[in-house]
Amino acid sequence: MKKSSVYDCVIVPLNKIHNRAGNITIIEGQNNIPFNVSRLYYLYDIPGGETRGGHAHKELYQLIVAASGSFDVLLDDGQNKKIVTLNRPDFGVMVVPGIWRELIEFSSGAICLVLASIKYDEADYIRDYRNFVSEKKEK
Ligand code: TYD
Repeated sequence: MKKSSVYDCVIVPLNKIHNRAGNITIIEGQNNIPFNVSRLYYLYDIPGGETRGGHAHKELYQLIVAASGSFDVLLDDGQNKKIVTLNRPDFGVMVVPGIWRELIEFSSGAICLVLASIKYDEADYIRDYRNFVSEKKEK
């Protein structure tokens, strides 16, 4: 598994074009973010107190954005942990491969937008935390 650290998971400020009729934020693969976007998905209707994520990826890069509302992203590389609060649609956090992530503290009506570098592949997931930690130690 990738020898990545939570410090590689940077906050990405996104551009915002103001207009009296509202704002627009544009994300272009290989421009604002250092990967091509192959897939986009969003989490919504998340019941209060729920946790999402709870896994790591072997190859996948993601940009996670609070398109609406707020939530916390817990990042863990097996040694260091970091918590990022997302609460603005013009900021995201990039999650690199080899990082355990959990999404918690969703506000009511929150929408979690995820831009992903590769198509869905269950083989890219590590869903067992102990396996994750031992695979990180091997590198
Ligand atoms: P999962 O990634 O485990 O959810 P989360 O990390 O948000 O808690 O995915 C939940 C379910 O959706 C799981 O059955 C796999 C399926 N899924 C797809 O089929 N395609 C996708 O692109 C994603 C992200 C999930």
